[in-house]
Amino acid sequence: MSRFLVTGGAGFIGSHLVKRLLAEGHTVSVLDDFNDFYDPAIKRANLASVSEKIQIVEGNICDRDLVESLLKHGGFDTVVHLAARAGVRPSIDFPELYLQTNVIGTFRLLEAARQAGCNHFLFASSSSVYGLAEAVPFSEKLPLPQTLSPYAATKLSGEHLCGNYANLHGMRAVCLRFFTVYGPGQRPDLAIHKFTDLIENGKPVPKFGDGNTRRDYTYIDDIVSGILGAIAYRGKNFDIFNLGESETTTLNELIATLENALGKKAVIQQFPEQKGDMPRTCADITKARELLGYAPATPLSAGIPKFVEWYRGNKKGGHQE
Ligand SMILES: NC(=O)c1ccc[n+]([C@@H]2O[C@H](COP(=O)([O-])OP(=O)(O)OC[C@H]3O[C@@H](n4cnc5c(N)ncnc54)[C@H](O)[C@@H]3O)[C@@H](O)[C@H]2O)c1
Repeated sequence: MSRFLVTGGAGFIGSHLVKRLLAEGHTVSVLDDFNDFYDPAIKRANLASVSEKIQIVEGNICDRDLVESLLKHGGFDTVVHLAARAGVRPSIDFPELYLQTNVIGTFRLLEAARQAGCNHFLFASSSSVYGLAEAVPFSEKLPLPQTLSPYAATKLSGEHLCGNYANLHGMRAVCLRFFTVYGPGQRPDLAIHKFTDLIENGKPVPKFGDGNTRRDYTYIDDIVSGILGAIAYRGKNFDIFNLGESETTTLNELIATLENALGKKAVIQQFPEQKGDMPRTCADITKARELLGYAPATPLSAGIPKFVEWYRGNKKGGHQE
């Protein structure tokens, strides 16, 4: 049994991870500021069923005193750092907020962990670091040519900071590049959730570009299994893994899959391509398969109906898990 600090533990991925860690008998503290990037009531509901079993610290990862004190007194074996300003498009409008939270916040946690002698750190990176990389599927070995958004730049900076702390201070730091994650509880700003909402309510679905952009969509249970595999990993001190599904779906195919699962036709509203968006993402997951035992089990065709079932149950009953 270990003691975990999960930053961003009230969020979509974090709250799923917290429940899985508890189910495995671990002790969990959450640091989350419950900000209004999306309705904080959703974040509170995410943790409602386990709030008695965990410590919830409401605060900002950039708050040095708070973070240092938490790490100093927490006795944590492992920090899983998921807290971030997420989302590519808003990072173009609010770059400073993204830099502050995702770079300074990550630095604060690494530094506080080092001071407290907590030597095990996992960092939520993103497929967006591949930017304009052309060789698909994206392998961790690829030199990274150029990121396309402030969000992506902050995630790459976070990886570099993790590398520094591993190399300079002997910390075990593992970076996980998540590829578009979906499933019950998905953030409302992400395409699958947003499109589901719009199609269900007969509202226009904004389609940017010709619909041929491709994404590798990863089901939440697979991501959580991948994180657990990375927690158990005892290879190199600093390492990076892709966690994706290794299957790519065009935007047009995604909309068709949602239409099928919902039994409704989408009303499409056409827009030009969005700046900052990647033309395609596709994970090479050979390394995670070999070293983390990662074995994604839910393709989009199986995951979308599960999401839609959750979505319909959730809308009827208000915010629930
Ligand atoms: N969901 C995806 O498809 C995806 C893909 C790639 C990477 N990621 C990364 O995975 C992580 C989790 O993503 P998610 O989809 O669960 O997002 P989320 O927004 O649901 O969760 C992030 C949580 O962090 C908290 N947070 C943000 N800023 C904070 C701060 N300054 N101090 C304390 N808490 C703060 C938020 O309140 C939220 O609960 C993020 O780092 C994100 O960048 C997500």
